[in-house]
Amino acid sequence: MLVQNKHLTTIWYEQNTDKVKIIDQRLIPFELKIIELNTVDEVCFAIKEMQVRGAPLIGVTAAYGMYIAAREKVDLKDASEKINATRPTAVNLSWALNKIMTSIKDINTNELPIKILELANQIREDDITNCNNIGKHGYKLIKEVYEKNDKPVNILTHCNAGWLATVDWGTALAPVFVAHKNNIPIHVWVDETRPRNQGFNLTSWELLNENIPNSLIVDNVGGHLMQHNKIDMCITGTDRTASNGDVCNKIGTYLKALAAYDNEIPFYVSAPISSIDFNIENGIRDIPIEQRNSEEVSHIEGLDENNKIQKIKIVPEGAQCVNYAFDVTPAKYITKLITEKGIIDANSSSISRLKN
Ligand code: MRU
Repeated sequence: MLVQNKHLTTIWYEQNTDKVKIIDQRLIPFELKIIELNTVDEVCFAIKEMQVRGAPLIGVTAAYGMYIAAREKVDLKDASEKINATRPTAVNLSWALNKIMTSIKDINTNELPIKILELANQIREDDITNCNNIGKHGYKLIKEVYEKNDKPVNILTHCNAGWLATVDWGTALAPVFVAHKNNIPIHVWVDETRPRNQGFNLTSWELLNENIPNSLIVDNVGGHLMQHNKIDMCITGTDRTASNGDVCNKIGTYLKALAAYDNEIPFYVSAPISSIDFNIENGIRDIPIEQRNSEEVSHIEGLDENNKIQKIKIVPEGAQCVNYAFDVTPAKYITKLITEKGIIDANSSSISRLKN
């Protein structure tokens, strides 16, 4: 999508320099910095410390991490285990690593780097195509609302499930981008998404760069807006959706889904098939929930008056902070899942049909 009117993606391989490049998302919206990933340790750091984040993007980064491992002659099993341990919740990480490990079983050692690079490039290309298709399917839902009401469609989203969470297009925001390109008037309510503020920092930056009207709200406002008919639909992404349709996504998604259910507002989840864990039958019971450093809760980052990024403490000395990064929304609260293969019910029979 666009950044200052130039098309950019979140990760790419530069053939003439043999470099994998990413945007360092920790600095957005204050600085746009492109960095290189040269070692497996740098790949692990990038995923763990969230230079790259968002379920599909960490899967693609893991795939390039395996190319880097093969190029640097690191043991591939060790590299795969190390990369897989960086973040526990998004299933795209193990999905991409398994895809690579199973595809290279019969490949000669000296051909491994080129073969893995081909696979990583393919995973990246597929992510773009799949997200674009999610956008085209989800667009129909937005168009329907516009044709019925004949006024701008108000959409609430949580966290960042835009192009920065994928390679391009995004998942939850892909329908928004496609609708905007098709001249459907839209306004997006952007949840702050504490503790790391992906809504304020990333989603608003994406929407502003695409000239899509949006308003930023703190995390607890959504319910009030729903009671006053200011939201037509919610769309979020997912880090791991269980085979029964339970959706794991950024912490706070569950509370928005409850409020949407109470107010009879559709709650859609854009879910690429790479984010579906067909091996987990019950999301609440079995999806591992990442707990991150408590400093993300006790501190907050922003620009000071000298335009320098600063981190400040916002809690009393000695306060105990707990940082759960994700929650699970039971399938009964999900109106539909928007996948690259079409719009489906969040239940096991519909989800199992996606397998083939
Ligand atoms: O912790 P993050 O920033 O990686 O969390 C991202 C989300 O929760 C997204 O909603 C999810 O990965 C779906 S992204 C297309």
